[in-house]
Amino acid sequence: MRYKNLVLAGMATAFLAISCATPSNDIDRKVDELLSKMTLEEKIGQMNQRSGGAELCDEIAAGQIGSILNCVDPNQINAIQKVAVEHSRLGIPVLVGRDVIHGFNTIFPIPLGLASTFDPALVEKGARIAAEEATANGVRWTFSPMLDIARDSRWGRVAEGSGEDVYLDCQMGVAMVKGYQGEDPADPTSLAACIKHFVGYGAAEGGRDYNSVMISERSLRNTYFPAFKACVDAGALTLMTSFNEIDGIPSTGNKWLLDDILRKEWGFEGMVVTDWNSSGEMIAHGFASDLKHASEISVNAGVDMDMESHGFARHLAELVKEGRVREADIDNAVRNILKLKFKLGLFDNPYVDAEAAASASYKAEALAAAKQSALESAILIKNDNNTLPLVKAKTILVTGPLADAPYEQMGTWAFDGQKEHTVTPLVSLKEQYNVIYEPGLAYSRDLNTSNLSKVKAAASRADAIVVIVGEEAILSGEAHSLSNINLVGAQSQLIATAKSTGKPVVVVVMAGRELTIGRDLPNCDAMLYCFHPGTMGGEAIADLISGKANPSGKLPMTMLVDAGQAPFYYNHNNGGRPNNGTETLLMDIPIEAGQTSLGCSSYYLDSGYGPLLPFGYGLSYTEFQYSNITISSSEYSEKDTIKVEYDLTNTGSKEGTEIAMLFVHDKVGSVVRPVKELKRFERVTLQPSETKHCEFTLPVSELAFYNIDMKKVVEPGEFELWVAGDSASGEAIPFCVK
Ligand code: NOJ
Repeated sequence: MRYKNLVLAGMATAFLAISCATPSNDIDRKVDELLSKMTLEEKIGQMNQRSGGAELCDEIAAGQIGSILNCVDPNQINAIQKVAVEHSRLGIPVLVGRDVIHGFNTIFPIPLGLASTFDPALVEKGARIAAEEATANGVRWTFSPMLDIARDSRWGRVAEGSGEDVYLDCQMGVAMVKGYQGEDPADPTSLAACIKHFVGYGAAEGGRDYNSVMISERSLRNTYFPAFKACVDAGALTLMTSFNEIDGIPSTGNKWLLDDILRKEWGFEGMVVTDWNSSGEMIAHGFASDLKHASEISVNAGVDMDMESHGFARHLAELVKEGRVREADIDNAVRNILKLKFKLGLFDNPYVDAEAAASASYKAEALAAAKQSALESAILIKNDNNTLPLVKAKTILVTGPLADAPYEQMGTWAFDGQKEHTVTPLVSLKEQYNVIYEPGLAYSRDLNTSNLSKVKAAASRADAIVVIVGEEAILSGEAHSLSNINLVGAQSQLIATAKSTGKPVVVVVMAGRELTIGRDLPNCDAMLYCFHPGTMGGEAIADLISGKANPSGKLPMTMLVDAGQAPFYYNHNNGGRPNNGTETLLMDIPIEAGQTSLGCSSYYLDSGYGPLLPFGYGLSYTEFQYSNITISSSEYSEKDTIKVEYDLTNTGSKEGTEIAMLFVHDKVGSVVRPVKELKRFERVTLQPSETKHCEFTLPVSELAFYNIDMKKVVEPGEFELWVAGDSASGEAIPFCVK
């Protein structure tokens, strides 16, 4: 390897912090000038992304690689850039990518947890911190945000997105794009965002990862596209195709998606990358006969860069010569890639200050934002007799496999988080209580119950028990779907053991998804659902338990009684026999009962008609009351804006924050419309007894949807709206659009 020594020496490289936005016509000129000098092989090299670091230097010097992923050593990145800039014929810097999904070194709650904060400003701040830490180490491109609407918690990747709702997904996605990219992509702290996975990946049949998807065009447009469109409008610089096929067409080979919708309809000017070997996987799909065919299909569909299939590098030149791929399309792809590199200022300065990198992470501001995110993401599920906060308890028994599991609490996709920096609940609870620690189980899947007797014995010395359970990080995320989403291992037995002692039991759940915790609820007096809370999760949980902080998070997905209910989401269509909540014909049907469907509606015999908890559910240590909800008119035209006013009162005795939500229902449409759709939300902080007069404004134009003619229109007619704390509460207020 010719460049090995250069790299291993960790060369001192001049670091110049140059930040200046280059006008786009200037960039276009520079790109065209550079493109005119490139051989076909060099162009194809730019379209080739590989995983690795220094070992790729020979290929980089030969102009065969345009981007790398998974190298995060700033010295190595500087050395690689030096090879690209000084030793390749045209001196084009390498674009360095990494999955910075919920923080780089400082790990924030998993994205599903971030969604439960309903706090886009905080999420944007977290993304900015992630960008600062990642870019300080030489990474300029993250494969985030994941915008896949997910309505099935069996799918392991629910952890990585914002859950089931379209509007929440848009808000969180845009916040992340803004945070990563900052004001100016050329700023050395700006990280190019990559909106993924385009599209429908979250609707994998049965929640089984990589599975087929069947979504109609209308449903794509009304449900799965909006967050992508919102992020394109917000300036997302790149987009990733998805592994799945929809209606038989893999996304990586779908020209309608990548060209007609993304480029032509939405005007996306950024760069499109495949997912990892998603081009090559079109062979297994049965859509391409071999890697050459897969590469042909991908480029012709509109892909610019190939992540790790090696197909572009091996076959594109030949495909051009055979006339199966046009060189003009290669030029367009390379233009998109070079434009991005110019926009990021990589040509002006591809290097980082490697010495400063180490001190860029875990700064006080980052830790404070991570803690705030963990605080706001925790959802209080149950709190009988005000068990929480534990104010009177002096000695507590802390048990459970997640109580002191610094690696696990970071969750999925925390490649660069270091467990040495993680603060666990055990550590933080010790700062506030006398703690007896008896883990009970060694890890979440542990089935060995021999230590539960120690938990029981220790309980006699404690005023209350805090049981910290959940999932190890590896049980969610990519390729980690589950068909059963109850607590794994003997964790339910551990909770039952705690309950059997008669002491107050507080259960804390740290997981990558919403688990079916219904069977555990009777065995706890209080439950805090925290998802995987990240680096500062322990401090946040201890503050919530002791009452230094008050929970405010809300469920970003409908919580199920049983995994067999999935997909189950609040914004479903009504169906012809909607349940009315009064079904009695459950499992007590008489033996040999006659076949009948009369009076029956949409429900399960065994798990009933409703979910365990609705979307938006979440308690507080105080209580809130909505009153005086008024709407500015009962009749609107399409150009009007609806104003909804309401009073929100803290009727309890503690300061608290309520997330108020505005839902709308279009009663009759040319195609049926969901029973409710979230249109606005707001976090409102109130002192005890305080009332705030609040308002939501909603342009009528935001009631538009893709109708029977596949046109996005507001259809005149009757509507209703709700202002409430979750998707199952509130009184409907009618209005109409003329
Ligand atoms: C595969 C995943 O699907 C994608 O989300 C990720 O960004 C890439 N691998 C790169 O690691």
